[in-house]
Amino acid sequence: MTLPFSPETLKDLHERIETPALLVWQPNLEKNLADMQKLADRYRTQLRPHTKTHKSPLFAQWQLRQGAKGITVAKLGEAEVMASRGITDIFIANQITQASKIKRLRALHETIRVIIGIDHVDQIKLLKPYFSDARAPLPVRIEIDSGLKRCGVTVGESLIHLAKAVTDQPFLELEGIFTHAGHVYGARNRAEVERIGHEEGEIMARAKALLQQAGISVATVSVGSTPTAPFSVQNPAVTEIRPGNYIFYDAMQIALGAAQANRVSLFVLATVVSRPAADRLVIDAGSKALHTDGASLTGHFGLPLNVQGKVIRLSEEHGVLQTSPQSKVRIGDPILLIPNHACAVANLFDVYHLFDAALEIETVPIEARGKSQ
Ligand SMILES: Cc1ncc(COP(=O)(O)O)c(C=O)c1O
Repeated sequence: MTLPFSPETLKDLHERIETPALLVWQPNLEKNLADMQKLADRYRTQLRPHTKTHKSPLFAQWQLRQGAKGITVAKLGEAEVMASRGITDIFIANQITQASKIKRLRALHETIRVIIGIDHVDQIKLLKPYFSDARAPLPVRIEIDSGLKRCGVTVGESLIHLAKAVTDQPFLELEGIFTHAGHVYGARNRAEVERIGHEEGEIMARAKALLQQAGISVATVSVGSTPTAPFSVQNPAVTEIRPGNYIFYDAMQIALGAAQANRVSLFVLATVVSRPAADRLVIDAGSKALHTDGASLTGHFGLPLNVQGKVIRLSEEHGVLQTSPQSKVRIGDPILLIPNHACAVANLFDVYHLFDAALEIETVPIEARGKSQ
């Protein structure tokens, strides 16, 4: 692993930023945004990036400026933050079933275009009392299970039954179908990633065809994760992709072959606090900075870029980095790391330190962090 910038730059950043901290290398972030937009354009699909990765209205605006059609969020609270900062087309890729949240959804629906996910008739019953006098029908997308076995109906009778239940309700508009092939994160090799990606597209094409046979048409067929998007997008039935992680990439994406290390844009900056043994550095980034996600895929808890080795253990505020006994790193030195899972890590910090080759650092608040309700 090599640093994306010079050791002097790292030293300079470390003199100006207290650790642990999140750094964002703008040149890579811009390349990542441009390339995913190009992929969507090449297949004449819309890009609706999942912003639960970065939780930043500024980065969402950059994605929209590149050509994204709208954004995706995981939570109503994230949607409210994004809407308050001027974003007007938001897909909440989730089911909303708690009364107080349905009231908040109704309020949001009165001001922007908000679409939600649905995969059971009981959700319709819960929504109905709050939407029958809404200004316009609430757009919904039926969630299809393409193998993750989380939410979603399978392609068959249950899909038709649910679609009819939606179209029977004047307060709802059946806007589309969506899926997320998240089981790709359990893939053992690149061929498996590719197979899951193609299957994601094929399953959605079958779902669309089945609905058509039943006389039901949908405007949107939405798929996507960062590893599967390059494959599922190729299916002509697909109209929209929703990758999220691609803005940053991380050690999990590298392990899956979805990105090269030289395209990562998000890093955790840490400081060596101790060296109790020649081969053991202790850094001030523990599970509250690096998160524990992804170790079963990558075999570590973070990849250091300016020292050999890997983070082998985390407690809350300490990271144990196994290194070569010959390493010249000293207590007080900076360590720059690629985290395992960028989306989980971003939610742990208040701000990004965004910087470019001129070394101007901009502090970008992570406004939707912690907005889990
Ligand atoms: C419903 C849904 N869509 C899209 C995504 C984006 O996938 P990725 O993080 O692999 O880019 C996720 C991620 O969890 C998701 O849950």
